Amino acid sequence: MHFQRLEVSKLRNLTSVSLHPGMRINLLYGANGSGKTSLLEAIHLLCLARSFRSIRTSHIVQHGEQSLTLFAELSSPKGVVHRLGLQRSMDNRILIRLDSHNLRSRAELASLVPLLILTPDSSQLVSGSPRQRRSFIDWLMFHVEPAFQTHWSAYQKTLKQRNSLLRSRRTETLAYWDQQLLLHGDKIDQMRKVVLPELAVYIEKHISQLLPELDLAIDYRQGWNKDISFEQALEAHRQRELQQGITSVGPHRCDLKLSIDKQPAAEVLSRGQTKLLVVAMHMGQMELLARKTGKQCVVLIDDLPAELDSARRQGLLGLLHEQGHQVFITATDRELIDISAWQETKVFHVERGQIKEVV
Ligand SMILES: Nc1ncnc2c1ncn2[C@@H]1O[C@H](COP(=O)(O)OP(=O)(O)OP(=O)(O)O)[C@@H](O)[C@H]1O
Ligand SMILES: [Mg+2]
Repeated sequence: MHFQRLEVSKLRNLTSVSLHPGMRINLLYGANGSGKTSLLEAIHLLCLARSFRSIRTSHIVQHGEQSLTLFAELSSPKGVVHRLGLQRSMDNRILIRLDSHNLRSRAELASLVPLLILTPDSSQLVSGSPRQRRSFIDWLMFHVEPAFQTHWSAYQKTLKQRNSLLRSRRTETLAYWDQQLLLHGDKIDQMRKVVLPELAVYIEKHISQLLPELDLAIDYRQGWNKDISFEQALEAHRQRELQQGITSVGPHRCDLKLSIDKQPAAEVLSRGQTKLLVVAMHMGQMELLARKTGKQCVVLIDDLPAELDSARRQGLLGLLHEQGHQVFITATDRELIDISAWQETKVFHVERGQIKEVV
């Protein structure tokens, strides 16, 4: 699915903007504060019903206005055009319409267009807490494995119940919740163990193109001692968990360990290398998704040139173009990104909340 038309009204400094993006690479350039990140924010909000910059509606809606409106025409690979609209008001109400019906769940919206975003904060995927890597894994699981969402939601609910029981030290119904936790937890773990080795292969492929000098090892940590079952781990930790009041083992504690020559990647890599590793990880995700489901992603890259030398920038653009996803890239200056060699690209100049296609 790709955007063939996008309209943004009253989002930050974008009062009224309309554009026809290209199918592949779209470069948005303009001065600091012109509205580039705001346009990416609009796309993110429309695809996921939440912003990546702020949870406060009052920050996103244009000052002095009551609501913002977004509209897009999305074209499927078979050429079917969907009309997607979103309105978000200052009282926090969100109305989402797809074609002629209202969408009720965020999951339904999120499955429509797989969206990936890379910002200067994305290095957290390598250097931040395991939580970042878990959402990376689960983004992929959600899109490639139809049963994942059901088990994941049930697991989260069970975990909450179990933790509140552990905190109150009421053990009468603990056995029931353990059973539920095991049921959904084992399913989640099994599904991850099928998908993640495949993902590692694609990530390694992209690393060999973007960072040939690195020898990266990716290791899945399931969330408990690998030599025992989840059931045995729960059993072994029960007494301590009752004292601590929290479930300390399970697939909610999984992680991806990234190492280079047995050292943690976060300790060894430069900032530019970290950025490229993050990109390689996302490219691996996108390629696996495309292979498994035929779905193409929409990719948002805020401030692509930051921390990358020109050879790496060009290498990355080549890979992005080759993969066939629709990409929106921002940069302060047009010369920083050379996309003249590729077809189906468009350049837009962003100036004080206005966006004009440059031909
Ligand atoms: N709620 C709002 N209403 C109106 N304007 C806003 C609102 N929130 C932020 N702005 C303004 O919107 C402008 C666009 O911000 P944005 O972050 O999109 O700029 P940018 O082009 O990405 O800049 P940079 O190159 O510095 O990242 C800024 O001038 C900012 O002050
Ligand atoms: Mg910006």
